Amino acid sequence: MAEGGQQFGKYRILEELGRGGFATVYKAMDTTLDREVALKVLDPLLTRDPAFISRFRQEAKVTARLFHPNIATVFEIAEADGRYFIAMQYIQGGNLRDLVREQGPLPFDQVVSLIDQIGVALDYAHARRAIHRDVKPSNILVDGDGHATLTDFGIVKALGETNFQTTSGAVMGTPHYASPEQAESRPLDGRSDLYSLGIVAYELCTGNVPFIADSTPSLYYKIVHEPPHLPSDTNPRAAGPIEQVLLKAIAKQADQRYQNGQELASALRTAVRQLQELIESLYEQAVACLAEHDLDAAENKLRQILAINPEHKDAQALITTVNKRRTSSQRYQELVALVTRARTQAAELRRDDPNVSDPDGVLRMLAEHLDAHPLLSDQPSSSGSIGQTLRLLRIVAIVLLLVGGVVAIFLGWYIPLMEKVQVDRSLFAAEQMKMQDQLYANDILGFALGIGLSGLIFLGFSLRRSQRYGA
Ligand SMILES: Nc1ncnc2c1ncn2[C@@H]1O[C@H](COP(=O)(O)OP(=O)(O)O)[C@@H](O)[C@H]1O
Ligand SMILES: [Mg+2]
Repeated sequence: MAEGGQQFGKYRILEELGRGGFATVYKAMDTTLDREVALKVLDPLLTRDPAFISRFRQEAKVTARLFHPNIATVFEIAEADGRYFIAMQYIQGGNLRDLVREQGPLPFDQVVSLIDQIGVALDYAHARRAIHRDVKPSNILVDGDGHATLTDFGIVKALGETNFQTTSGAVMGTPHYASPEQAESRPLDGRSDLYSLGIVAYELCTGNVPFIADSTPSLYYKIVHEPPHLPSDTNPRAAGPIEQVLLKAIAKQADQRYQNGQELASALRTAVRQLQELIESLYEQAVACLAEHDLDAAENKLRQILAINPEHKDAQALITTVNKRRTSSQRYQELVALVTRARTQAAELRRDDPNVSDPDGVLRMLAEHLDAHPLLSDQPSSSGSIGQTLRLLRIVAIVLLLVGGVVAIFLGWYIPLMEKVQVDRSLFAAEQMKMQDQLYANDILGFALGIGLSGLIFLGFSLRRSQRYGA
């Protein structure tokens, strides 16, 4: 084969890009225009056949009339030193076959975008009576921005499409994408390309093609007669509406398929949106179930989401929360059982020995020791000496508040009264002092009320706590 630097007419070979069944594709430099091109150099065995050359020229004429952003433009077909080659637009990036091999199924949004672009390209070509005949992932090139380009328009026809064998006997490309009408060598129209695009969509969604066999004849038999493997068997995510679209796209009868590329792409887009909406609604239901403490129902919804999309981060996080809740609820139940048992035993003990205090007294004592448990205590860490210190502080605070209240009443009522008596003796300052008294009394009353209220709140809080301990 060609070496780097080798010249084909005005093209200088730069590097090999890849090989198919009947040609090798090189990146080359058009030395007259100083631009990079892709050069598809045909197998010499193939070009010995004069019938092939005439078909090839005929097909190239059709292909060369196609100018579309999603179709690789053919610049020329030419011959140099007895070798036939096609010079076409060089597309940076990689082909879809390699992408699926590396990544497996692609994200559905990406599949929709790719099928949409190639669907539009096929509609354009079909409107100009050009049928591709070899739509497959290796003929779809994708650049870094996700722009897709279809290559190799009509070349299969030039090769004689009755079977995918070259004159040298090598199987051209892969027959996995052939439509039933191609497999049976029946006349074709654009819907044959749409079937192949449907197989591409199936593979992008699942990572596999729907029909696999040991030999081309048995593969063709399956394509014509057997139902395809369900997409959801390979990828549970490709279920429901997406599965329906994929199966319709590869219907055996052409008139039961999508009739053009746009129709296929928009059905797929709708199906992906429906699936996303289903996931969103299941997630909302799971959140609502969790709020109502229906842990089983919440888990059920979340498992449904994860069956569709195992990588759904929010659902994964929520299922962890559900499991935590379940554990703590189990621990709570255990604790309740424990306390009930203790209560029964305490009652029995009291029956046997009247010196033992009442059952709830025993339980209160037990509860003091269960301080560390978060479900029984407001302050999980306030066990031992910290708990005692806090209790002591609480008593000091209550005493201070009571004393403060008495002092406040004394200050607010008795002192102003005494001062008023004194003030009455001075007629000059009488008016002034009266005002001062008023202000003074207001201050003290406000202060006393404040202290009294906080004291009440504190007492209420302490009562509630002691009730909880006893419960
Ligand atoms: N116009 C192009 N620009 C860049 N790479 C291309 C172009 N055409 C084909 N290739 C690359 O060359 C490889 C070989 O192409 P081809 O001979 O058509 O075989 P196949 O399509 O079966 O892989 C393709 O897989 C593709 O990655
Ligand atoms: Mg190709």
